[in-house]
Amino acid sequence: MQYSAIDEAFRTGESKQIVYSVNIGDNEHWLITNFSWLLDENGNVFAVLGIARDITRRKKMEEQMFHTEKLASVGTLAAGVAHEINNPLAIILGFTDLTLEKVQKDSEIYETLKTIEKHGTNAKRVVENLLSFTRLSEEKIEDVDINLNINSVLDVTKNTFSLNRVSVSRELSDNLPFIKGSAGELQQVFFNIISNAMSVMKGGGILTVRTRTVDHGQKVETRISDTGCGIKKEHRTKIFDPLFTTKKVGEGTGLGLFVSYGIISKYGGRITFETKTPDESKEHGTTFIITLPAVKRQ
Ligand SMILES: Nc1ncnc2c1ncn2[C@@H]1O[C@H](COP(=O)(O)OP(=O)(O)OP(=O)(O)O)[C@@H](O)[C@H]1O
Ligand SMILES: [Mg+2]
Repeated sequence: MQYSAIDEAFRTGESKQIVYSVNIGDNEHWLITNFSWLLDENGNVFAVLGIARDITRRKKMEEQMFHTEKLASVGTLAAGVAHEINNPLAIILGFTDLTLEKVQKDSEIYETLKTIEKHGTNAKRVVENLLSFTRLSEEKIEDVDINLNINSVLDVTKNTFSLNRVSVSRELSDNLPFIKGSAGELQQVFFNIISNAMSVMKGGGILTVRTRTVDHGQKVETRISDTGCGIKKEHRTKIFDPLFTTKKVGEGTGLGLFVSYGIISKYGGRITFETKTPDESKEHGTTFIITLPAVKRQ
């Protein structure tokens, strides 16, 4: 692309601006380059001058903003639909329960009703997750110690790690400031991200959890990294979308990251990720980065 822009500047004698990405080492950089022509004493173009600026940060911020706006509108729509489904679903489940009480446990109809109940309850879970995206929090908002909550999620998931030969490395910073939020919801976020990491390290790997302060102590950053297969390029703009999943039917609902995004945004934070597939780097894997505003310890 750069060469054709140079050619064109030579041919037409007009300046040109192009935006393109290049890989420097393992990282993708976005550049904006202005090509303008230089004239010799006879007025002919004898050279093209290109000045490139690295706009990777700006590009990332634009992408993030686009994403936030898209999620806000999709999220509201999804929550609206979920709300409509919630009531009829409650009626279906209610009548199923009532009928279950009236039929013999060993009858065929009992089994059928149990199947309806099971799938109805699954649907209810999906609806509740969707609703939680826009619902005003009924959770208690308090000063939350991130390290404490990470440790409790890691303790619960410990067995699954050792079963899958995944080792856990905790690099939790001492004297971390608190953040404002609900401990339950933050645990849900950590749990969702850690479960995703687990599912891409079935044959073994390393889960690294790091916490530290950034922005001169104004923010608390949590990084959760896995050594899994990374996220494919074509999926990277979709992973926070509601119901986006690459898992088999029954294995994932595609709501984990969507809900996590809603929770972190609600508390004034940001959730982003860095990822490399085995094609892109020998050190493949994904890191989710959560930053939340710090509150001073009393
Ligand atoms: N650590 C990761 N490594 C690779 N891909 C990931 C990772 N985390 C998320 N993904 C991708 O993002 C998709 C969406 O994740 P999300 O947690 O929202 O839904 P899910 O895990 O598929 O289902 P569930 O609702 O059960 O969480 C996943 O299906 C997967 O393709
Ligand atoms: Mg998930």
